[in-house]
Order: sequence, then C-alpha cells, then structure tokens
Amino acid sequence: MTTNTIQSTATENRLFTPSVNWSATAAIPDMAAYKALCDEAANDYEGFWARLARENLTWHTPFTQVLDESNAPFYQWFADGRLNASYNCLDRHVEAGRGDKVAIRFESDNGEVTLVTYSNLLSRVNKMANVLKSLGVQKGDRVMIYLPMSIEGVTAMQACARIGAIHSVVFGGFSAKALNDRIVDTGASLIITADEQARGGKNLPLKDNVDEALALGDCESVRHVLVNIRTHGSISFREGFDLHLEPLLARQSDQCEPVWVEAEHPLFILYTSGSTGTPKGVQHSTGGYLLWATQTMKWTFDIKPNDVFWCTADIGWITGHTYVCYGPLSAGATQIVFEGIPTYPNASRFWKMIESHRCSIFHTAPTAIRALNKSSEMDESVHPKNFDLSSLRIMGSVGEPINPEAWMWYYKNVGGERCPIVDTFWQTETGGNMIAPMPAATPLMPGSCTMPLPGIMTAIVDETGHDVENGQGGLLVVKRPWPSMLRNVWGNPQRYKSGYFPEELGGTYYLAGDGAMRYVDTTYFQIMGRIDDILNVSGHRLGTMEVESALVSHHLVAEAAVVGRPDDVSGEAICAFVVLKRTLPKGAEALEIAKELRNWVGQEIGPIAKPKDIRFGDNLPKTRSGKIMRRLLRSIAKGEEISQDTSTLENPAILEQLKQAL
Ligand code: WT7
Repeated sequence: MTTNTIQSTATENRLFTPSVNWSATAAIPDMAAYKALCDEAANDYEGFWARLARENLTWHTPFTQVLDESNAPFYQWFADGRLNASYNCLDRHVEAGRGDKVAIRFESDNGEVTLVTYSNLLSRVNKMANVLKSLGVQKGDRVMIYLPMSIEGVTAMQACARIGAIHSVVFGGFSAKALNDRIVDTGASLIITADEQARGGKNLPLKDNVDEALALGDCESVRHVLVNIRTHGSISFREGFDLHLEPLLARQSDQCEPVWVEAEHPLFILYTSGSTGTPKGVQHSTGGYLLWATQTMKWTFDIKPNDVFWCTADIGWITGHTYVCYGPLSAGATQIVFEGIPTYPNASRFWKMIESHRCSIFHTAPTAIRALNKSSEMDESVHPKNFDLSSLRIMGSVGEPINPEAWMWYYKNVGGERCPIVDTFWQTETGGNMIAPMPAATPLMPGSCTMPLPGIMTAIVDETGHDVENGQGGLLVVKRPWPSMLRNVWGNPQRYKSGYFPEELGGTYYLAGDGAMRYVDTTYFQIMGRIDDILNVSGHRLGTMEVESALVSHHLVAEAAVVGRPDDVSGEAICAFVVLKRTLPKGAEALEIAKELRNWVGQEIGPIAKPKDIRFGDNLPKTRSGKIMRRLLRSIAKGEEISQDTSTLENPAILEQLKQAL
C-alpha cells in the first residue's frame, strides 16, 4: 500500500447545472437540503441512521440499538430489530393498496414484454419460497443462483430472503470452475439454474455448466439442482437430483409467511475479486443493506411513484442486487428488467427500449456508453437522436470511471442536456452508492462522482492514515462504519479485518482500495483507480492473480504476469506476459497458442477474463530477488517508453524481447 504513485492528472473544471423542472419535488431539492442532511449525520450519527432506518423500512420488531462498535471492525447495526427483506420489497406495497402497480416490465432477448404486478410478484415469490422449503431449505442455508436476467432470477433471490436462506448469485457468464469454487466455499445445499440463457440471439449453456461444476468435486453439500426451462435446449437430467422448477411451483400455495430475521442476519454472499488468492465472499446484512438500497433509490435516483426505472446491470453483480432486485422493489418502483445485450438486434436496443417503455431513470455503465457512442458513429441509424428519449429525467453511470468525453456524449445525445448524470462510485463491499451527485442539487462535473452521500464519511488519507490536502492524491477511506457495509468475508474473518481495516491506518478506517483526490475549489472527489492488483474490464472486477493462476494451470505455461492497459471501450484491457515450457513460438504458431490460452482462461474463469493481448517471452523482467517488475510490464503493455530505473533488473535484455513480441 503506497500513495506516492497516486498522482492527479485531473484538469476538468466544467460544471453543469441542468435546470430540471422537477427539483421542487425532489428528495434533495438543493444544496442546502443536502448540507442539512450531512450536518444531521455529523451532529448525531446514530440518530441520523436510526431515523432513516425507521422511515425506509418496515420492522417486525423495532430496534432499540443502533450501532454496536464493541467488536470493531465487526460492526452491528440495528441488532435487536427484526424484519424481512421480501416483506419490505413486496407485501408492504400490496398491503398499502398498490398490488396492481407494475413491479417489473420484463423484456426478453427477442423483445417480448411481460408485465408483473406487485401482487403477482408476491405470489411468485411465495410459491418459490414454498418450493425451497419443500426441499428442506432453512434459515441460514446457502442457495446458489445461476440464472439469466429474468423474472425467475429476481423471484429466486426474493424467495431466499423470504425464508432467511442466504443467496449467492453467480453471473451466468462465469465458468463451471468459478461456479465450483463458489459452491465449495459457501457449502450450498441447492442450486437454482436454467437450461440455457438467451443472449444476443444465441443460446448459451447454464445447466451443462452446473453439471460440470458439480463434477469438479467437493460439492457434497448440494442436495438438488432446480432447473427453469428457458430455451428448451437439450440438457442432461439426473432423476431425483435434478428437478424441474415449473411443476414444483404449480403445486405450491401462493401464501408463505415471511421469516422475521435479525437485522444482522446475512441476506446474501456475493463473490468478488481481491488482489490475492481466490475471490472473496462479500457478506451483507439484511437490515443495514436494505436500508441503504432503499434510501439511495430516493436520494441518488430521486425515485417517484410514476418513474420507470432501468438499471441495466445483471443480477450476478452487486449493482443488479442493489438496483434491480432490492432497491427498486423496496422503494415500490416500476422497473425494466432486460434479458439481452445492448447490441442485439443492433446497437440502438437501449434507445429503443427507453422509448417503448417510457423509461425515466436510466442507469448503465461507461463501457456501454463508449461502445454505443462508437457504434452510432459508424452507423447513423443506431444513433440515439433517432429515438424519442423525452421520457428520461435522470441518467446514471456505474462501475468504473467515466471519461469526460463519454460523459459529454451521454449528456448531450442521450439526455438532451436536460438530464443530470449521477456518476455513482461504490463497490460490492459498500452495498450501495457512496459518492454521487444528488440529481436536483449537485452541480455536475464530467468524470467526477462529486460528493459523498449524507452520512458517508469518506476521506483521503496518506499511508499512515492522516488526511491529505485537497488537490493531493491519497487513499480513499471511510472513517465511520455505515449500515450497508459488508459484514465479513464469508468464512474468513481474518481476511475481512486485515484487508479492509489495515492496522497502518489505525484499524478502524475502511480502505476502499482506490486512489482518489479532491479538487481544491469544489472539494469534489476524483477516483483515480485501484491501488492494488485489481483490474476493471468493462466494469467487471478481476484480480491479476486470478488470471495468472488460470494461465499457469495450462500445461504449456511456465510463468505468467498479467497487467492492465487503457482501452477505449472496456476502460481497461488485460495484457498477459507468458513464458512457455518450450521454445519461444513465432508467427502463426504464436498466434495459435495465444488463442488456445485465451480460450483456456475463458473456460477457467469466464469470457470476460480473456486477455486481449498475450505476449510471449523467454523470461519476465525480475529484480535480483526474483520479484516481477509489473510497472515495467505496464509500460510495455501501453506501448510507452520505459522511463523507470531498470538497473535492479536481473535480465534487462528481456524488455526488448517483450516489446517486440507480437
Ligand atoms: C470498483 C468496485 C459500483 C458497483 C459495481 C462495481 C470502480 C466503481 C466507479 C465510479 C470510478 C468506479 C472502483 C471500485 N468503480 N464505480 N463511478 N467511478 N470508479 O463494483 O465490482 O465491486 O468494483 O469499481 O475501482 O473500487 P465492484
């Protein structure tokens, strides 16, 4: 952990204040209201959070305790309160007479639309919960969900929550190996999957991957695999072990009493990449997590009863947990759930859907914006100007830094200079938005996520934990625990403690793992990227170590080092330097082996982890003590001149070879 490499290159100083005609009704109408909330939190931190927890959630047993720091950093929030997440997402809206409101506007890959009301979603969730119970799933049991973007996906997550089972969703693009790792780590008793998923006009396997994951071993905990039929693709079926979901649902009652769990009861485990070792199971609580999922819908997205909200993230990522499954439903909103991809049948799909669903709040990732900008330059007919996007009032960006050029394109061409862009900085571990503009209040700066949400005590410190001056780079930390923070790394409290609350910073600051700085004049935050070996490829988080271990598990590979390099569309691209257990391949043969290795990584982790560049060398640049000099590799990957000191290198000649390679 070092701050001396975090240097600000930020020069942005444009501010935009779209004059919106809805500011009077906004949850945070102006900066004075924002400041009042920040002051409330500063003056009475626990009182502030207790008020929000009472206003946003319906408690079965009201809490009397707010924050318990006695076993820091294992914090507890609202510990003696009881509630149920699915009750808060469904029943309370139905009980309030809003059962006929549309909860989900589902659009399939091929464009079919299914509307699901709150009442209907509640009965689907109850039936699914009853199926889980009939299979012996109990409070605290782990259930893996390996499903496409679907009504069933959201239903399965909510059904787990209803009976207090802990779900762990695995993104459908992850491999059998990745699924196996997660099954083993959670000790799941049930897997819910589909025969296949439909994406961009193609059917891709899911059930086959589950079979393969189980065959990889150590999955004795799994008692059944529940299969939803989506495409009618051919799959193998083990009678008695594999079960068809549909007929089981048909037999169940649509009533199911929610299990009232303690606020600290784990709602889910979601795996994310760390800088070392295998992915870690980020464990979230029920009460604190749901509170922030709900509150940020109101503050960051200013959700209102007539809005049509659309977050394009997959339920396999934290964004899909908080801003598809839990936040919009807990807030009682109508939302679009989309099965497909932005470029099918062509790159106007998003604009077409905003128009046809009259979407008012649209939330997507910078990588999608950059890709769609590029497509619309190549093909006029997919440009957003051809569509009626007048229903939009707020647009979001999430997952990676948005470069000012992409921001401006989004602002002008999609939002028509009317719609504030909320650039939301947060992480799997933080549960919900941490730093983001308040859409009716905060003047916007392209590329900056602006200011922390009220109650979120972010700061930038040096490696001894002292605040740095504005204008200086440093480590992004959160000084006080907040309700939606992760509670643990599943089964690994030591990793939780040392990874997120390092002693060097005093042991109580949450270390985000990003470098950041604050502008001198506006005090806005600028995120400058990860300080650890984590890559962000199209908003997907990957550890360099994960990709390296996948590469070295191939029989031809002796050694591998992976670094990121900037990429126009994906933000970062993976570049792998590989030493083979044979002579250096050349020309067509090198291309052939590179292809094989790329596919291998795709199989080991998932297609998103395939290296874009693979370069072969006789060796890697190492110090005399044998440490790989990644900084040099980063320069080579970028095609930069090497300005760093190379005098400590064991084998300086290797640099020339790696520069020439491919
Ligand atoms: C990492 C977290 C946010 C939920 C989805 C990704 C980067 C995320 C931004 C942003 C700059 C961002 C950070 C962070 N990141 N949002 N608005 N501006 N960087 O969650 O997979 O846990 O990744 O994504 O580097 O640490 P995640």
